[in-house]
Amino acid sequence: MRVAVITSSDSGYKGEREDLSGSCVQEIVKSFAAEVVYTNLLPDTQDILEKELKTICDQNLADLILTTGGTGFSPRDVMPEATIAVSERMVPGIPEAMRAYSMQFTKRAMLSRAAAGIRKQTLIINLPGSPKAVRECLEYIFPELQHGVDILTGTATNCARK
Ligand code: MTE
Repeated sequence: MRVAVITSSDSGYKGEREDLSGSCVQEIVKSFAAEVVYTNLLPDTQDILEKELKTICDQNLADLILTTGGTGFSPRDVMPEATIAVSERMVPGIPEAMRAYSMQFTKRAMLSRAAAGIRKQTLIINLPGSPKAVRECLEYIFPELQHGVDILTGTATNCARK
């Protein structure tokens, strides 16, 4: 699985804060033996985020885009809006699962507005912005993503019955 990692953070983009959550996403992806093919750190600006997501999907540069940050309530948190704007089909079950699972760690998990969607043959998933939240969410969902990507890219045509 080819994975692109996009961080949405004004302070990270300005160099005022180290991008620890983007690094955390990369580390977890590699621990599942998937390949990080692209990373970028962008400001919390919707049209910039949309353009980046579109380019990766339309040029088929990755099978999966994992974003981190920009899912909360700040007026600058627009990662879900960018994701929804570029997605052709939404995948609500993934953020639903992340939020439900995360409630055991913090009830503030309900404050993440993370979305997930498909554009062409690429799955886009928003993760919250702290390394702790990234780890809690991503380690939980990652084992099921390969099957979804296989169906999306035509590598698999049916589901193993478990
Ligand atoms: N999910 C998990 N698993 N663990 C967390 O610590 N933090 C929450 C939530 N989701 C959290 C979590 C908090 S405090 C917020 S405000 C939202 O994610 C949004 O985070 P973001 O603005 O960094 O994207």
